[in-house]
Amino acid sequence: MTRMPPGCVLITGGAGFIGSTLVRQWLEHEPESIVNLDALTYAGLRESLGGVLGDPRHVLVAGDVADAALVGRVLAELRPRAILHLAAETHVDRSIDSPPQFARTNVLGTCTLLDQATRYWQRLAGSEREAFRLLLVSTDEVFGAAEAEARFTEHSPLAPNSPYAASKAAGEHFARAFGHTYGLPVITLNPTNNYGPRQSPEKLIPRLIVSAMRGQSLPIYGDGLQQRDWLHVEDCCAAIRTVLRCGTPGRRYLAGADNDLPNLRVAELVCDLVDELLGGGPRRRFIRHVADRPGHDRRYAVDSGPLRQLGWRPAISLENGLRSAVQWYAAHPGWVERAEAALQVAGGGSAAAAHRPA
Ligand SMILES: NC(=O)c1ccc[n+]([C@@H]2O[C@H](COP(=O)([O-])OP(=O)(O)OC[C@H]3O[C@@H](n4cnc5c(N)ncnc54)[C@H](O)[C@@H]3O)[C@@H](O)[C@H]2O)c1
Repeated sequence: MTRMPPGCVLITGGAGFIGSTLVRQWLEHEPESIVNLDALTYAGLRESLGGVLGDPRHVLVAGDVADAALVGRVLAELRPRAILHLAAETHVDRSIDSPPQFARTNVLGTCTLLDQATRYWQRLAGSEREAFRLLLVSTDEVFGAAEAEARFTEHSPLAPNSPYAASKAAGEHFARAFGHTYGLPVITLNPTNNYGPRQSPEKLIPRLIVSAMRGQSLPIYGDGLQQRDWLHVEDCCAAIRTVLRCGTPGRRYLAGADNDLPNLRVAELVCDLVDELLGGGPRRRFIRHVADRPGHDRRYAVDSGPLRQLGWRPAISLENGLRSAVQWYAAHPGWVERAEAALQVAGGGSAAAAHRPA
């Protein structure tokens, strides 16, 4: 393993959608090096790290967060001053098809990382020990569905509905318990649905964009009136950096952009933007309602007030973010091809489920 200068941070899952954006943003804005531990599953692509793979301040370690010996070795040798834990199985449909893999990565993997981090942190002394932080990236889905008009806060009870959300909530419970039992300085961030470049085309917005560009059908679950609060991935990564810098250990911060919109409206916006960019259309005619996802939450909404008090604000409007995302996917057919090939190899997931007729 390459020796890094003191003061580096460790990110897990840094070849994924949010992680690869965070690695880029980190290298651009922060002075320290970044060590990237990623198992390179179907969701983690070296191609997503194009441009930063050769950066001397970024080291990619291909490995599993559930591998205690490897995690222990990475921590002992590279001595990060913080851990940003993003590695996870993330696709809700896959968690419905095959829950145990979600328990393995999101529960056992998170617990293993917390355990190794605790052992490492306990060996630190003085200001190094004082400054150490572990930031767990969770999700707004751990709270279950929000009632109309209500917003989840950091004190809302965890009531996960999907196996994915349950596995993330279990990771949060372990993180809280490690804070309580050993004093490990853990902070949790619960962002809302992210969108932007380099997101696997099994997820809603890239699936809509890619299908609309190809003139293929755009599957929408059920009536399409499920509301999500869409947060641009660059804003999410800025939230992660803010919470790492200023967040209080033991607390949970929620990050949303107050862009609550039904999925059907998002599909219409994407169609209109693709029409504008590529001509032709109207592509709204390709929208197809398919059988709803079992147990589908109707609404998520969060109160980002405490995060905003730390100085964070979402900077990218939904319209600008969607426009730039459409432009990015149109300009990167090679990346889309590579991501779809990885999905083919992985099998299952939303492609099968989303095409069930209504
Ligand atoms: N994308 C969103 O809308 C969203 C919203 C809220 C929270 N989150 C959370 O943010 C984090 C990142 O999400 P994402 O959308 O970038 O996910 P992603 O699926 O795009 O990437 C996950 C990454 O984790 C890696 N990984 C999977 N299993 C691993 C293991 N056992 N060991 C090491 N690496 C492993 C994958 O190779 C991949 O690079 C996740 O924890 C997710 O739960 C995502």
